[in-house]
Amino acid sequence: MDVNKIREDFPILSLTLPNGKKLVYLDNAATTQKPVQVVRKVFEVYRESYANIHRSGHYLAQKASHIFEEVREKASKFINASDPNEVIFVWNTTHGINLIAIPLLELSKKKGKKEVLISTMEHHSNMLPWRRAASLLGLDVKYIPVNADGTLNYDSLEQLISKNTAVVALTHASNVTGVVNDVKRVARLAHENEAFIVVDGAQYAPHARVDVKEIDVDFYVFSGHKMLAPEGTGVLYGRKEILRQLNPLITGGGTIKDVTLDDVVYLEPPHRYEAGTPNIAGVAGLGEAIDYLKRVGLDNILNHEKILLGKALKRSAELEKIIVYGPKTIDKRLGIFSFNFKGLNPHIAGQILNEDYGIAVRTGLHCAHPYHYALVANEGTVRASFYLYNTIEEIDYLMDSLVNMERTILKT
Ligand SMILES: Cc1ncc(COP(=O)(O)O)c(C=O)c1O
Repeated sequence: MDVNKIREDFPILSLTLPNGKKLVYLDNAATTQKPVQVVRKVFEVYRESYANIHRSGHYLAQKASHIFEEVREKASKFINASDPNEVIFVWNTTHGINLIAIPLLELSKKKGKKEVLISTMEHHSNMLPWRRAASLLGLDVKYIPVNADGTLNYDSLEQLISKNTAVVALTHASNVTGVVNDVKRVARLAHENEAFIVVDGAQYAPHARVDVKEIDVDFYVFSGHKMLAPEGTGVLYGRKEILRQLNPLITGGGTIKDVTLDDVVYLEPPHRYEAGTPNIAGVAGLGEAIDYLKRVGLDNILNHEKILLGKALKRSAELEKIIVYGPKTIDKRLGIFSFNFKGLNPHIAGQILNEDYGIAVRTGLHCAHPYHYALVANEGTVRASFYLYNTIEEIDYLMDSLVNMERTILKT
């Protein structure tokens, strides 16, 4: 994997900031930059192949529909789904989870289920939709706690799960600590209790190989914009036998076989879940992003990011006042490095990194308030998150900058 060659595809990474500092982009968990191949594809669709899909029969409409459906096939192979029709295009992870929370709990309630299990480490996008759906349908929500190092407490999960459990909603990897959950183990537990498992893959799918058959999950959701693709694109994978049983939450044009004034017959999945005009050019860009990631190789990407993380963790030992969140080894973690300096508000630390060093990080509670409270980081954390185009020199520069900050600003 030649990172310098990869960087040539991302002109934005060579930016010099208005303060004269060279940009070091370490905010990849929020969103990633786009390679020229993806930008070009979106441009090409608008220039040569654009029309609405699945409606008209003219040349451009057929061409655009074909491009869209080709990406469905690519996306299904990307996660090893059994059938392209198990792939529903969504705007992002948040949209995908909202799309199934109510229908899935409706179905579960009919089966006599009473509770939803959510982990404390969830991003709000995999927490609030379930809370809302549970409150609308009269189900209870229970939380799986985390250990002091931010990992999931599997013993508590085993005690909490029961035949009353409707759904286990769990992230594949945390957006705060990068902790990777053993979703295969949790899926087995869920299925032993006749519960559904819904996995939020927003942070995992861009960085490592996903095989939905191997992990045996019922739903898996991820966002295009965190994996080199345009924003407004994403994938909700659902097992086809479950998708066929659910009533879609968002209905309208493009979802039906027939409508009379008092009846409606929906199309088979995935179309019954894709109401309205989708992000056609964006989905074409998603297909290009999948090709790009596959060309580089997801195993190579994961390996590279682990090297970067290992460097950051190792060099954090040079800092006296740093608190690093999550396990201190690279196993079962992705390239997300969240920390605080004792006595320094994370927003101020982020501002210094931006202004004095040109380093882009995210600061605050990262849409995961309960997790931060469990980690005793009530004001939030500073999060540096890595991707395939980050270099070992950039990580050294980050750590040199932190050492310098500790020496200058934090000296007592
Ligand atoms: C773990 C996790 N889940 C869900 C989301 C929501 O993603 P989106 O804003 O693309 O819907 C994020 C975004 O940061 C995330 O990190």
